[in-house]
Amino acid sequence: MSPPSRLVVGISGASGSVLGIRLLTALRRIGVESHLVVSRSAEVTLAHETDLKVAELRAMADVSYAAADIGAAIASGSFRCMGMIVAPCSVRTMSEIATGVTSTLLTRAADVTLKERRPLVLMVRETPLHLGHLRTMTQLAEMGAVIAPPVPAFYAKPRSIDDLVDHAVGRALDLFGLDAGIVRRWGEQTEVLET
Ligand SMILES: Cc1cc2nc3c(=O)[nH]c(=O)nc-3n(C[C@H](O)[C@H](O)[C@H](O)COP(=O)(O)O)c2cc1C
Repeated sequence: MSPPSRLVVGISGASGSVLGIRLLTALRRIGVESHLVVSRSAEVTLAHETDLKVAELRAMADVSYAAADIGAAIASGSFRCMGMIVAPCSVRTMSEIATGVTSTLLTRAADVTLKERRPLVLMVRETPLHLGHLRTMTQLAEMGAVIAPPVPAFYAKPRSIDDLVDHAVGRALDLFGLDAGIVRRWGEQTEVLET
């Protein structure tokens, strides 16, 4: 039983809400249904970092849920999907997922993704990292999550912040076998698509 072409997207309150924005754009372009949950803190970072209103961000997804709506479809393992990406993922959200003590729909959906053995990709953004952060990441990796911090790939010769963001988002989508044409791949001469 192959899952429907849909992905759960979590946007938490780490710096880099643009990662979630570009992810939603990429999913729309390749026809993957996006199911979005935005944390309360992400609404704050969105306002600090972009000109986008929360309603405009939500409108970029096929389905958008309130973070408090723990009865939403994505809170159940019976909701079929390819998995989940949290972009960006804050230390707080990462830590909640690691403990299983989930207080919002975002972390509940991530917990469900793990229990159903579906891919969970966490684009954790914090630096520097203390030992507790690193231990939490190890714990999550042992539980099956993929820790995918949005670190720049300079070999791709980025010319803009968008290039950096697209590469990070594209590499996260690679983990689901999805290609939105936004990764400048080593050893390939392909032109990346304009968004
Ligand atoms: C402008 C701004 C930038 C932030 N950047 C980060 C960050 O990069 N990483 C992080 O873990 N937390 C960051 N925080 C703090 C988180 O928003 C905060 O820990 C919050 O409680 C996270 O909640 P959430 O995980 O439910 O979204 C930032 C906060 C603000 C206002």
